[in-house]
Amino acid sequence: MPLRIVVLGAAAGGGLPQWNCGCPNCVAARRGDLPSLSQSSIAVSGDGESWSIVNASPDLRQQLALTPALHATGLRQTPIVSVLVTNADIDHVAGLLTLREKQPFRLIATSEVHAVLAANPIFQALDPDLVVRETVPVGEEIAIAPGLRATLFPVPGKVPLYLEAGEVVTDQEGELTVGVELASADSRAYYIPGCARMTPALEARLRGAPLVLFDGTLFRDDEMVEAGLGSKTGRRMGHMPIDGPQGSLAAFDGLGVGRKVYVHLNNSNPVLDSRSPARAAVSAAGWAVAEDGMEICA
Ligand code: MLT
Ligand code: MN
Ligand code: ZN
Repeated sequence: MPLRIVVLGAAAGGGLPQWNCGCPNCVAARRGDLPSLSQSSIAVSGDGESWSIVNASPDLRQQLALTPALHATGLRQTPIVSVLVTNADIDHVAGLLTLREKQPFRLIATSEVHAVLAANPIFQALDPDLVVRETVPVGEEIAIAPGLRATLFPVPGKVPLYLEAGEVVTDQEGELTVGVELASADSRAYYIPGCARMTPALEARLRGAPLVLFDGTLFRDDEMVEAGLGSKTGRRMGHMPIDGPQGSLAAFDGLGVGRKVYVHLNNSNPVLDSRSPARAAVSAAGWAVAEDGMEICA
């Protein structure tokens, strides 16, 4: 069976438009001139029937409502068998609170991500008798749904914003930020919504991959500063830019990846506008820019 991926939310935290933002992209999205985007999540299936949600965004309720394959199939039955989270950022875990309706599912993450969830009593709303919290070490392949396997691997990143204290290491490699290799019987894909920099290990892993969904948060490292939207660079937020010598366009050049799709797009990112020079640049390099509802069969 092929791998089916549905991009539930293509945007980074905040979405497009972001509630308090008047940047050109957010204004255009409110006018309907750009497609609105919800926050970072994908759904994956290896058998076309049961699904795993990878990252539970604050927009999950709406995302599920808009995706027929994920609708309830019986009185208290859902095709969703597991939820895997790649870090403990708000845009990837707040949606767990939407899933609190006494429904069994497996909640899969590394021990460090589980520790952050365990330290937040609000997640006790997920009934521990029904929602099994499964710890998966990086590098170990596990089945996350029938016909669907996942392997987590370390990716440079940082602690969630709400846990930042003192000097923050923005490109720590460990279990707090991971990417995931997804595999069905016949195919494989990588999902990496946050990545602070390309490493030799990551390069080796991704070389020749048939499909990669990758961190497209910002086009230029300083684009939010330049646009007057804040003081942070992409790197300070734990995200490598698309453009520039240390950017993902350059990092993927020559890796021979079959299909490359940018996800986790911040609303400031010029690639969101299909007529922009930035979009032309990523398209010329063979990248697609995700939209909500995009289906990818691998
Ligand atoms: C990020 O991806 O940098 C975070 O989701 C930011 C946030 O927590 O808002
Ligand atoms: Mn995020
Ligand atoms: Zn904006």
